[in-house]
Amino acid sequence: MQVTQEKIGQHRAIPLHLAIIMDGNGRWAQQRHMPRRLGHYKGAARVRSLIEYCTRAGVQCVTLFAFSTENWQRPEDEVQALMALFVEYLDKELPAMLANQVRFRALGALDRFSSEVRERIEKAQKQSANNHGLLLNVAVNYGGRWDILNAVQTWQDEHPQAPLRTLQPEALSDYLSTRGQPDLDLMIRTGGESRISNFLLWQAAYAELYFTDTLWPDFDEKALQAAFEWFATRDRRFGQVQKSAI
Ligand code: IPE
Ligand code: IPE
Ligand code: MG
Repeated sequence: MQVTQEKIGQHRAIPLHLAIIMDGNGRWAQQRHMPRRLGHYKGAARVRSLIEYCTRAGVQCVTLFAFSTENWQRPEDEVQALMALFVEYLDKELPAMLANQVRFRALGALDRFSSEVRERIEKAQKQSANNHGLLLNVAVNYGGRWDILNAVQTWQDEHPQAPLRTLQPEALSDYLSTRGQPDLDLMIRTGGESRISNFLLWQAAYAELYFTDTLWPDFDEKALQAAFEWFATRDRRFGQVQKSAI
């Protein structure tokens, strides 16, 4: 049975904003003596049904880590394969996103991409802009350090007279790539590592962190349901004391 806001009967039983570090594609392929590229294809094929599951469960926003600022350091052929996959994914998935009212946004330093990739991103963002369903952020050439630095620099550009020391945390949040979106509630990392790898560093301040050994191409609806059930048991104190202890 699917966990939903209604079934659990509590507002926060399901994350409003879910982020996923989709890790383990390469190992999934290597275990099968297949090229790593095929692991990435298998992994991408997982996304649509999980987004549909999130929509049914009442998640408002999903942020997927698809390519980090550090992933450029991989062998050239793997980087090329990932770029080709991203273009193919956007071409193939855009009709389904539009049909499902999904709003697509790319997060990251997009100027590093070829014009082919940038055009696809702009098209998907534009065509889905007025959808009113789930917001899907795909983080590409994204790094949490880049996001914070970019936010500070943009703020300073817009407030040339203001001393930097007047910048407050709440104001900085409005300059991050996730501005205007719900706070991050749950971050899932597949693939067995217990680290954030420069994903949403600022946004993860009070997110619940869920690590699983399951490799991303094997992460199905049941696995996501298990993560949601775990999330529903968390006591989120945000630095305060438990209500029952006061
Ligand atoms: C995650 O899978 C996808 C990207 C980083 C693009 P990996 O390619 O990191 O898979 P492993 O960690 O090598 O198994
Ligand atoms: C994080 O995975 C980036 C993505 C899933 C896109 P990595 O595989 O790049 O992370 P590390 O190198 O294990 O920390
Ligand atoms: Mg990895």
